[in-house]
Amino acid sequence: MSVDAHPRSARKAQTLSIGHLRGLLRDPLKEFEEMGREADGRIVRANLGPFRPYLITHPDHLQHVLRDNVDNYRREGMMWKPLSRLLGDVTVTDTGWLVKKRVYQDLLSAPSIAQFAGEMIATISEAVDDLGERADPERPVDAYAEMTRIVYRAIIRVLIGDRISTSKIDELGQLMVTATTSSFRPRMLMPFVPFSVPLPGDRTFNRAVRAVDDLILPIVREARRDGAGGRDVVSLLLEARDDDGQGIDDRAVRDGVVGLFVAATDTTVAVLTFLWGLLDLHPEVRARLLDEMDRVVGDGPPTFEHVADLTYTKMVLQEALRLYSVGWITPRIARTDDVIDGVRVKAGTTLVVSPYLTHRLPAVWPQPHVFDPERFAAGRSRHRFAFMAFGGGPHQCSGRVFFFIEAPLILATLLSRYRPVLRSPHPVEPQAHLTLKPRGRVKIALEPVRR
Ligand code: HEM
Repeated sequence: MSVDAHPRSARKAQTLSIGHLRGLLRDPLKEFEEMGREADGRIVRANLGPFRPYLITHPDHLQHVLRDNVDNYRREGMMWKPLSRLLGDVTVTDTGWLVKKRVYQDLLSAPSIAQFAGEMIATISEAVDDLGERADPERPVDAYAEMTRIVYRAIIRVLIGDRISTSKIDELGQLMVTATTSSFRPRMLMPFVPFSVPLPGDRTFNRAVRAVDDLILPIVREARRDGAGGRDVVSLLLEARDDDGQGIDDRAVRDGVVGLFVAATDTTVAVLTFLWGLLDLHPEVRARLLDEMDRVVGDGPPTFEHVADLTYTKMVLQEALRLYSVGWITPRIARTDDVIDGVRVKAGTTLVVSPYLTHRLPAVWPQPHVFDPERFAAGRSRHRFAFMAFGGGPHQCSGRVFFFIEAPLILATLLSRYRPVLRSPHPVEPQAHLTLKPRGRVKIALEPVRR
């Protein structure tokens, strides 16, 4: 399949039946997967009543939308609209976005991470010490809640420095989970419903957003008053200038800080939680991962230098992200009419781009439902837009390098002290919110490592 931008006669996309709407409201991810199966890599149009988005899953088509003709596709509508109430303007062509993006790229580059890696390791170690107080093999803990605590502390401490206390970080973690789960799903599936019409979960969402403001805005104002100057995200955003030398106001700094936290935290928490389910189902992968940890890190503590040698760990994380692409949907809106692989796409329509579906195309990933980290072994080649967990093109994830340093460090710290054993009565399954999250509680028992 190849993309021809100028075919002689563009055709219409095949339309999927309206019957999917009821299923989407009941169990969005399951129904969505069914739609992806029907589409099988072709461009199709979903009939969801007044909302009729295109489904774009084939790597060639993704390359066209996310890279080759990227200026024609805005990050707007669908999930971006409900998200804008938490993050402000997330449109990728917005000048404010460009200012923030430069700050993120600078802060999250490998040399920058190397500077704060020591602090990240110390913070993770402290968070795992805290977990130790609750670690009783007979009393399993809630994996999502524990991963949230560790990840939030690690990320926020290094990104915002000592501008916030540990208890406030834990509070922020809870608020973000509330904000990204409360009214998000109905708002995303019905983007045509104006905010003035209340939907279930709206009040909880609004309360959480106000509480986030009350935590972050004073930090921004204080930093501006005191004169910023550090390497934390608040200072960098306060000092950032656009091409005309203009800075951004307190509200935009707040949006930039919260935007970074949302992008960085829930994604990492979710994949680390799904991992315990996958390792439970695949003892051979678990054994190899533990063996690598023992060989490279031993009884710890892990260091920044260890990360480069944790190659199997990285493959396991990549494969976990292929199966559970926690950033499962990244829709776009066409600015002008376009033709993708012979199919006419009208200006103003939504394109549902979904790594979750691309990663389940048998033609791209053979036996897509099988968990096999070997897919990511060195030397294996694939289409540049086949592995889409971090997006693609100029708007892809700015935190990819950060993730592959932070997540192995968290795993290494945890596994040097404990062997987590899954104790959930049901399999670990994903559920669609802003990011994928596990359905129900995932319980793990922490058995101390005996050396
Ligand atoms: C499992 C881990 C992660 C996954 C799966 C993930 C996924 C993604 C995806 C799919 C996008 C692109 C959205 C789009 O195309 O519109 C994105 C954007 C972004 N991510 Fe990540 N991410 C992860 C971790 C992180 C971390 C740890 C950070 C920061 C420390 C981060 C920071 C960002 C930022 C700042 C953007 C916005 C880039 C832009 O606006 O152009 N992410 N992420």
